[in-house]
Amino acid sequence: MSMRKNIVAGNWKMNKNLQEGIALAKELNEALKEKSVHCDVIIGTPFIHLASVVDVVDSNHIGVAAQNCADKAAGAYTGEVSAAMVASTGAKYVILGHSERRAYYHETPEILKEKVLLALANGLTPIFCIGEVLEERVSGKHFEVVKSQMEASLFDLPANDFGKIILAYEPVWAIGTGKTATAAQAQEMHAFIREALTGKYGAAVAGNASILYGGSCNAANAKELFSNPDVDGGLIGGASLSVDKFMPIIEAF
Ligand code: 13P
Repeated sequence: MSMRKNIVAGNWKMNKNLQEGIALAKELNEALKEKSVHCDVIIGTPFIHLASVVDVVDSNHIGVAAQNCADKAAGAYTGEVSAAMVASTGAKYVILGHSERRAYYHETPEILKEKVLLALANGLTPIFCIGEVLEERVSGKHFEVVKSQMEASLFDLPANDFGKIILAYEPVWAIGTGKTATAAQAQEMHAFIREALTGKYGAAVAGNASILYGGSCNAANAKELFSNPDVDGGLIGGASLSVDKFMPIIEAF
């Protein structure tokens, strides 16, 4: 019997100014107070929102995530935000390795490995994103790509640390495109990921790992995606920006 959690996490990306973000967090908090939901709920906000959002949400209902942290602990790195700083806001999670960070900000597997170590050292739970681009899927390399992303950034971790990580499979071709992976494609990849974890860390660690799906997940497709045995929730971009769109995804569990 696995202990793994179902999780619905929002990734606001670079949306909402501070006032809008606080208002959205408050509204979601109110909505969740009235319901008993069957999954953990996390919201990933820009850095500047973190402390204020932590302040207005009930931590029993909503966990707060940063969308990135620095690959260095502290010092002369102008414009960067360290894992320790993120933790000091009361945020408990950090999204790492999102495909937008890999593609637009040149985050390599080695850089991500450092970020994961710093996040863990500061008590943050990484939500680590993996996923192939369209050409890789078309050429049949998607399994290999996803496995090597895990190997390069995560598989040097001891089992105890790996066990703290949440994985998010986000096929890049499905992000913000309205083209969701089919439930079968998601299940196939999630089962492959869990099998890779079993090979590396054993059945107990693999069975307890939450593996989220991300990419054009919405109220209409969440239920079907989440009903797969290896899909333990979602990482939601666009549809996390309003309570009307986000709540039904949470309630898909
Ligand atoms: P969309 O839900 O907007 O496709 O974004 C998914 C995503 O990238 C979440 O991290």
